[in-house]
Amino acid sequence: MEEMGRVLAGVGSGEVEPARVYHEFAKLDGVRFPAPVGRFPGLVKRVRGLREVKLPSGRDVAHLLKGGLAEIIVRRRSRREYGPGGVRLEELAALLHFSVGIWGSKYGYLLRPYPSAGALQPVEVYPVIGDVDGVEPGIYHYDPSSSSLKLLRAGDWRGELMRIALDQEHVGEAPLDLVLTVVYARTRWKYGIRAYRYVHLDTGFAAQNIYLVAEALGLGTCAVGAFYDDDLSDLLGIDGWNEFPMLIMPVGRRR
Ligand SMILES: Cc1cc2nc3c(=O)[nH]c(=O)nc-3n(C[C@H](O)[C@H](O)[C@H](O)COP(=O)(O)O)c2cc1C
Repeated sequence: MEEMGRVLAGVGSGEVEPARVYHEFAKLDGVRFPAPVGRFPGLVKRVRGLREVKLPSGRDVAHLLKGGLAEIIVRRRSRREYGPGGVRLEELAALLHFSVGIWGSKYGYLLRPYPSAGALQPVEVYPVIGDVDGVEPGIYHYDPSSSSLKLLRAGDWRGELMRIALDQEHVGEAPLDLVLTVVYARTRWKYGIRAYRYVHLDTGFAAQNIYLVAEALGLGTCAVGAFYDDDLSDLLGIDGWNEFPMLIMPVGRRR
């Protein structure tokens, strides 16, 4: 408690950064045990889209992944320039299935390819599509429970997404971008304030999968963390607190 008092006083005087306060409050050391918060929003977000695009099953697109794990890990880079041509629907399906898809369930929880605090899996993926064969441009939500994309907003929104990402050209030039959000309410329900640490870790695990699976598919991606949060929330139609944006990942053909 004394330590906490010193920290809070330091924030007031400008000597301690606010992140330190969060860090102290979120520790599991008995100073303040995090309490669960709010109503549980469910393990999977389901939205009503304007239209639905069914994805081929993970098993049907598994053959598109090439290379051994060590080779892929060593080859992984953040790629900001892409080769000509769009991305095929099968490639997008493989990218989603093998990085963040649902592959089963156990004790009422879902099994996915990345670890997650409490198996609550707060990460949601919104493909912003410009050039994917057979899919009309638009902002979609990926529903892993039905292996489908739900169209939220029709049109090519990559230019607006690039503006939101501080005019980073790779965001506008890629055939598609994956926007990763977290349903913070899902993890906060169990872990209270400590959830703010966990959702960032979960996103990191999911994003690394996207990097590695993209490499295995002959595609390239880049984690983009610089963006105007509120504008991005507005673009996706999320409230920016119970669910908020974490990363933009442009995806294109590897050069
Ligand atoms: C949290 C985070 C935020 C990042 N934000 C950006 C970004 O806004 N724009 C960008 O071009 N790269 C961004 N990157 C990519 C890094 O610049 C890149 O990972 C780093 O230069 C190392 O290169 P490598 O990924 O090829 O190993 C980000 C990476 C992380 C992990």
